[in-house]
Amino acid sequence: METVITRNLSKTYSGGTEALKDLSLSLKEGEVFGFLGPNGAGKTTTVRLLTGVLTPSGGSCQVMGIHPGDRPEKVHLLSGIMTEHAQMYDHMTGMENLMFYAAAFGLEKGEGQRRSESLLRELELTEERDRKLAAYSTGMRQRLSLARALLHRPRVLFLDEPTSGLDPENVQNVNRMIRDLALKEGITVFLCTHQLRYAQEVCTRFGLIDQGVLLASGTLEQLREEVFPSKCLHIRAAKVPEDAGLLPRGPGEYVAEIHETEDIPHLIRKIVEAGGEIYSVTLPRPSLEEIYFALTAGRKEAQVR
Ligand SMILES: Nc1ncnc2c1ncn2[C@@H]1O[C@H](COP(=O)(O)OP(=O)(O)OP(=O)(O)O)[C@@H](O)[C@H]1O
Ligand SMILES: [Mg+2]
Repeated sequence: METVITRNLSKTYSGGTEALKDLSLSLKEGEVFGFLGPNGAGKTTTVRLLTGVLTPSGGSCQVMGIHPGDRPEKVHLLSGIMTEHAQMYDHMTGMENLMFYAAAFGLEKGEGQRRSESLLRELELTEERDRKLAAYSTGMRQRLSLARALLHRPRVLFLDEPTSGLDPENVQNVNRMIRDLALKEGITVFLCTHQLRYAQEVCTRFGLIDQGVLLASGTLEQLREEVFPSKCLHIRAAKVPEDAGLLPRGPGEYVAEIHETEDIPHLIRKIVEAGGEIYSVTLPRPSLEEIYFALTAGRKEAQVR
């Protein structure tokens, strides 16, 4: 089932900044979608449009079949939102904050308490539950904000830079939670970040945005195919025949450009049959970071021309 849809979604702020231009996306249940882009790319603007905080200047969007602009309260009941600057109450404890929002989401008191306690436990905040928020560290606040976003068991979770203030251990913990929510409970996660290595670890699909324009979207494998259609095979070998089409890169080291992985056995057979000795063959796979830089660099070049 499609849970988040945008069609030519656009936003121009009153000052004239075109923050989002013709964004068309479609997310399914259980996906962890990584929405990636540099500062000012339009990620937060997209989340604000999808949660009804902003109205589009053009195009449309839907969350669980509902237009957020028409019925924001309904979208808020179906989605959890965690942003960098979550509105919570400093003079209240962690537990009091959660109980307050549980009531706002319409949870019955006992259920609110059970849910809050279980989320505090999962996010390793049990020891902080009775401390005032004013005494929380940035990472503790962020985790409490995630707990708040999950109180009412949302179907769609919007995460805007969820791990920017977390230490590595808590990043792993939050990652595990996000994956479980998607995999076991079918929650759709819309995750905005510019931490590419982190995104590669946790997301199942990606959208790369720059200056309000979606540059590419797909799984990591699809993006690799699209951005680096030709692949470079690294081979360590001896007695390589000259007509094998390998380019020397150092003593006993060669590279060969291939177009499909099916070319590999053919090439290897050719070398071996001609008396070559192969010690290793590797096909380096571009990371999300490399794909991202190739795409954004391509865009900058296009602008210069
Ligand atoms: N309320 C606003 N009024 C005017 N312009 C805005 C407003 N909010 C954002 N912008 C502009 O819209 C563009 C997109 O901003 P947005 O906050 O969506 O980017 P982002 O991808 O979330 O960036 P970051 O990674 O820094 O959080 C930027 O040029 C920004 O200056
Ligand atoms: Mg942002």
